[in-house]
Amino acid sequence: MARPAGLPWEVAASLAISGETAYRTLGLLGVTGRGAAGTTLLVHGASGGVGTVAVQLAALRGARVIGTAGPAQLDRVRSLGVKAVPHGAGWAGRVRALAPNGVDAVLDLSGHDVLEDSIALAGGPDAVVTIADRRAAELGVRYSRGLLHRVGMAEVFADLLPALLDGRITVHVAHRLPLAEAATAHRISEEGHPGGRIVLAVR
Ligand SMILES: NC(=O)c1ccc[n+]([C@@H]2O[C@H](COP(=O)([O-])OP(=O)(O)OC[C@H]3O[C@@H](n4cnc5c(N)ncnc54)[C@H](OP(=O)(O)O)[C@@H]3O)[C@@H](O)[C@H]2O)c1
Repeated sequence: MARPAGLPWEVAASLAISGETAYRTLGLLGVTGRGAAGTTLLVHGASGGVGTVAVQLAALRGARVIGTAGPAQLDRVRSLGVKAVPHGAGWAGRVRALAPNGVDAVLDLSGHDVLEDSIALAGGPDAVVTIADRRAAELGVRYSRGLLHRVGMAEVFADLLPALLDGRITVHVAHRLPLAEAATAHRISEEGHPGGRIVLAVR
């Protein structure tokens, strides 16, 4: 598919994996179309590459979204129109303070040992999907990856591109590096707090 005029190269480059993953996993949780209205969705890793797209897409679909993020990223997550609480010890209590009756669905994009408390908050494992925690099967939670739950990119782009082009969804590029600094890009990614997408440019 050709890059639409008006979509910056770095956004186009950042979108394929994060957009497809957000679209696919929200679909698995039933956060789709009008069916999302009235749903309370918790997203672990709301500040990440996938999370930034997922929380905006869910909010656009009418869901009430609560995201977890590191302290340095909370304001940015809130600027996307969703509630945000710090991740780490005590996160479940902070979510409960915002959602005393629990949540309808949980999307774990962090893989940081949040599944048990997420199952309790959502009332069961069926309402939880992870893309990053290998304990999923053991706990009865769905683990999603592209090869398992394939969604066509044409379908993803048909949904996402209009919202990206008119600014209802934004992609946050945190690091722009020349290709020669690919090793630095990997190091930033491996630290686990990139603060947005990392883009390598060939020139
Ligand atoms: N299965 C699939 O289909 C699929 C597809 C794409 C990606 N992935 C995987 O999914 C994960 C997310 O991808 P991404 O591109 O969004 O990664 P990313 O941009 O690096 O984001 C990582 C997220 O995890 C959060 N995080 C870091 N430490 C945490 C902790 N201790 N507790 C809770 N959250 C914590 C970060 O929050 P702060 O930075 O705010 O601290 C950030 O929101 C990665 O492991 C990636 O490999 C899987």
